[in-house]
Amino acid sequence: MAGKIPQSFIDDLLARVDIVEVVDAHVPLRKAGKNHKARCPFHEEKTPSFTVVRDKQFYHCFGCGANGTAISFLMEYGGLGFIDAIEELAGRCGLEVPRDASYQAQAKQYDELYELLESAAKFYQRQLRERGNNAIDYLKERGIIGEVAGDYEIGYAPPGWNNLINALGRSEAEQARLFEAGMVIRREEGGRNDGGYYDRFRDRIVFPIRDQRGRVIGFGGRALGDGAPKYLNSPETPIYHKGRELYGLYQARNKAKQPERLYVVEGYMDVIALAQHGVTNAVAASGTAVTENQLEKMFRVSPRVIFCFDGDEAGRKAAWRALEITLPHLGEGRQAHFNFMPEGDDPDSFVRKHGPEKFQSNENVVPFSDFLLDSLKAKVELSTREGRANFLDFALPYLAKMPEGGLRQLLLRDVAGIAEIETGGIDKLLQNKLPGAPARQRKPRLLMQKQNRKLIGDLISYILSKPELAASIEDTAELSDIPLAGVDFLIELITLIHSNPAINCAAILEHWRDSRYEQRLSELAPDPDALAEEAFDLDVQFLDAMEKLKANKARHSIEKITQVNPSELTGAQKARLRQWYSAPNKK
Ligand code: UTP
Ligand code: MN
Repeated sequence: MAGKIPQSFIDDLLARVDIVEVVDAHVPLRKAGKNHKARCPFHEEKTPSFTVVRDKQFYHCFGCGANGTAISFLMEYGGLGFIDAIEELAGRCGLEVPRDASYQAQAKQYDELYELLESAAKFYQRQLRERGNNAIDYLKERGIIGEVAGDYEIGYAPPGWNNLINALGRSEAEQARLFEAGMVIRREEGGRNDGGYYDRFRDRIVFPIRDQRGRVIGFGGRALGDGAPKYLNSPETPIYHKGRELYGLYQARNKAKQPERLYVVEGYMDVIALAQHGVTNAVAASGTAVTENQLEKMFRVSPRVIFCFDGDEAGRKAAWRALEITLPHLGEGRQAHFNFMPEGDDPDSFVRKHGPEKFQSNENVVPFSDFLLDSLKAKVELSTREGRANFLDFALPYLAKMPEGGLRQLLLRDVAGIAEIETGGIDKLLQNKLPGAPARQRKPRLLMQKQNRKLIGDLISYILSKPELAASIEDTAELSDIPLAGVDFLIELITLIHSNPAINCAAILEHWRDSRYEQRLSELAPDPDALAEEAFDLDVQFLDAMEKLKANKARHSIEKITQVNPSELTGAQKARLRQWYSAPNKK
């Protein structure tokens, strides 16, 4: 993963690319003073608050808070993975991403598989045209015609055991590759593999599955009519991981890079039937429950995810599972909804019966939070105090999984209302459920911790704005025993800059991508407007904050001393105490 690409290469890359050009290629920018601006591509707005800062190689939106580096931009806007974003940037600069030999061998193997599956998709499409009358009739009967069949590259795997093998597997090596790609199955003779293979997909309509970069990675195949099994999918292969891919996402993004919403449906035919009716923003997980990875992919592309489930018991169960995985991903403008289909319908039959307007209307759409509260309420008897306490017990763990923010706050108020408890009281109950919630805490300590947290945050933020500041700290040892959360990180940050004095803000952020610091760091990354005001004297603020931090260390040692029985104090400790209490400014 990230470790495969040397960090020094990423630093170098970020020093070479110009984020203004990278962003401008996707979202046209306008110069505004020192910076560049545009209407934010990550949320809807009328006036531009999306700012790209060339000096910092960084973007920031004042409206929705989106921010990051050229790499993040390609990930968030382009929907690329980390490695793919690096590849893309390297390509722009004419650089080759350095990789170790084993990686290169693997990349070559993958490329061969992609190429093979691309040929298979072409082969099946040709079969549909040449020998696929039955299949075409079947598709027509289901309302699927020409253009959409073309957009989704629907093909036909003819009956027979060797069609694909004969076309693409003439040598043993080619056959082995078809096997690796999941397209053929080993022939067993008396329980032993006889070295031969047969086609996996036979007499089926096939749907090529493309990844986000448009490479064919697998297939789904539907029997014509009542054949069993109804659907057959590619197995997991080195390039196809069911839990990470979304059928239809590539095609959806060919129509709109950042669709306003994405519908999540259950089947291939749902995606295609919706597209046939002009709803081109539907995706499907391949016959399994949606995973967090898939959800994260969708939210990178669109702020609104609408899960379509059957209205029956099974559909509600599936919706609840989806709710559980979605909770931690909400907030920051990300919304989820449920669209329950009427009994007996799926999105395919619904859109055929009622048309796309009705499908897209919000008539049957249940907001995430309503579904959450209604489902929880249905579990308990709210007329008794015991029942309401139960309700709280059920509800709070779910709220605790949500990120802090408006939606959680509103839900908290509603939960309090339903349980008939004061909002203040419920807040406390929630705090106890939050991960890492300390068992007990005294108020003043909490306040102090908050201030200290801000202090460390400020320092990090100043350093991100002007990495040279870290050079003024000659020795990190004097920071090392300050007992505050975040100090360890601060030391790491300073050490990084010491060993890498020319590093810029963007490269610093990239160092901690995928670590537990990533989120907090991006929150602390510089706010370009504040920086534009040159009156803002970073050096002074930085030194001041450093002084406060050191004072903290002093205070801490004094606190320790005061816990010692006065009669046991050493002479040196007494001297420290006298000095502390007579100092003019006890920060
Ligand atoms: P459904 O049975 O709901 O299929 O399965 P559907 O999309 O409505 O199919 P049609 O309309 O009868 O053609 C939904 C998804 O579950 C997976 C497939 O991915 C399918 O798209 N599935 C279903 C299988 O993998 N195998 C099966 O036998 C059935
Ligand atoms: Mn169906």
